[in-house]
Amino acid sequence: MIYAANFKMNHTRASTKAYLEALQEALAGKNADDRVIVFPPATAYDHYEGDFTLGAQNAYPAKEGAYTGEIGTAQLEEFGIRTILIGHSERRQLLGESQSFVAEKFAYFKENGFEILYCIGEPLHIRQQGDEAVMTYLLSQFEGIDTSYEKLIVAYEPIWAIGTGRSATVEEIATTHEGLKKTIQKPLLYGGSVKPENIKEITSIRGVDGVLIGSAALDAKNFATMILG
Ligand code: 13P
Repeated sequence: MIYAANFKMNHTRASTKAYLEALQEALAGKNADDRVIVFPPATAYDHYEGDFTLGAQNAYPAKEGAYTGEIGTAQLEEFGIRTILIGHSERRQLLGESQSFVAEKFAYFKENGFEILYCIGEPLHIRQQGDEAVMTYLLSQFEGIDTSYEKLIVAYEPIWAIGTGRSATVEEIATTHEGLKKTIQKPLLYGGSVKPENIKEITSIRGVDGVLIGSAALDAKNFATMILG
């Protein structure tokens, strides 16, 4: 299983350090086959040693240059960061990232050999139209994406389940993952209101290879509890 924590715009440099120390201590009891990835805010990047991978929530598709407010691979390389999240719905919706820009980022980070955690997810009005509409929508989010890339991990995060406390149902997750796996044979994570109360149920669904957790992973102990089971 892959357990990924997306801090979004939470935690500081100091609290991330304390978090990762607490997490590392707890991970001593972790199953050797399980993988842990943590995506802190960019201000908290540092050299951390531990049984987890530090990833970037975002970066611009360039090494460096005149891109005010952005960071590129030069800044990630300083901390040995080689994993990146691309296509998160918050960036697509709030920051206006188009499919073509997302695809440009994907191509750049692929070219540079990064592990890419690529996010897809449908809005509520699409979910209400049924499974077929959901699948058409999700597959359109792979436009311009090389789904055969060997360092690709996909995360299915229905937008209506993110931060709402209401995760997708077991049936919705199972059907969607099964449908996606017909086209994309890559590790597939589920994200959207994953928490200690539902993680066992979610990780035991066939076709779920891991979870991408926001709010419930902001506390190191909580995240560790979910990893250790
Ligand atoms: P929540 O776990 O807070 O619903 O967030 C999910 C998410 O968007 C992770 O990327």
